[in-house]
Amino acid sequence: MKKIMVTGALGQIGSELITKLRAEYGAENVLATDIRRIESDVTEAGPFEILDVTDAKKMHQLATDFGADTMMHMAALLSATAEENPVFAWNLNMGGLMNALEVSRELDMQFFTPSSIGAFGPSTPKQNTPQDTLQRPTTMYGVNKVSGELLCDYYFERFGLDTRGVRFPGLISNVAKPGGGTTDYAVEIYYKALEEGKYTSYIAEGTYMDMMYMPDALQAIVDLMEADPKKLIHRNAFNVTAMSFEPSQIAASIQKVMPNFEIAYQVDPVRQAIADSWPDAIDPTAAKDEWGFKTTYDLDKMTVDMLEKLKIKLAVN
Ligand code: SER
Repeated sequence: MKKIMVTGALGQIGSELITKLRAEYGAENVLATDIRRIESDVTEAGPFEILDVTDAKKMHQLATDFGADTMMHMAALLSATAEENPVFAWNLNMGGLMNALEVSRELDMQFFTPSSIGAFGPSTPKQNTPQDTLQRPTTMYGVNKVSGELLCDYYFERFGLDTRGVRFPGLISNVAKPGGGTTDYAVEIYYKALEEGKYTSYIAEGTYMDMMYMPDALQAIVDLMEADPKKLIHRNAFNVTAMSFEPSQIAASIQKVMPNFEIAYQVDPVRQAIADSWPDAIDPTAAKDEWGFKTTYDLDKMTVDMLEKLKIKLAVN
């Protein structure tokens, strides 16, 4: 990784990934691209170009002009938004991925794209979900993610493209808010705790999902990309997770810092159905064994850090 091009750079992961990559590899060596320009560090602190990932020609041109040797393809619709417009989701998620893989093949780039716990479905074992298991997702997002995992494996097997990837759980961060995901409640809850002292969850009590704090997620991307390829038995879609909790447990974690915080429930049937179709807790052993995946934040440590950072960001006491 010397010259890295990132799509979806203003998204939930991209916004922080760009900052980390620029710090580690040099600002001039990280090209951020996104379909829109929102003035921020991403657009101002290093190279930035507008790119619609369905435009293969422009993607190829930008990668060539930049001399990119690595592609990190982050542009995608999340689960709930994809359910609202499945055809658009297919075209964007699959068309964008196909273009990014093709450009990477043509220019012989190293390649990363994230899959998700959304790639699992109701028939997948819910506890300690294995790396290699049944994947029959019931959402358009999940269908996209499984197809993406297969496509990335195919490009490695067929063309020798150095594809790598992880299955991310819900990602929690204090920088960019997620948009249209099922796990977003675990981010919103911290904002509402500080702004209103209470939160109404659209996910029911007792619904477990895997989660991870953003700094651990970003480190996982870098560690996997830097890993010795000889040690990789899998290439794409490594299970990674830091914790599994349900809404009342994250509420209890917040109450340790803010004793008066209250949680209520008003379940959204669409997102609840998506959550119910996903595992409770996945097994990240393959990632640990093959490239040393590790995390540094558990629920309480994340809560303390989230509340501290958001207090400053939201200017509340
Ligand atoms: N956070 C994502 C979502 O909820 C899961 O990949 O859609």
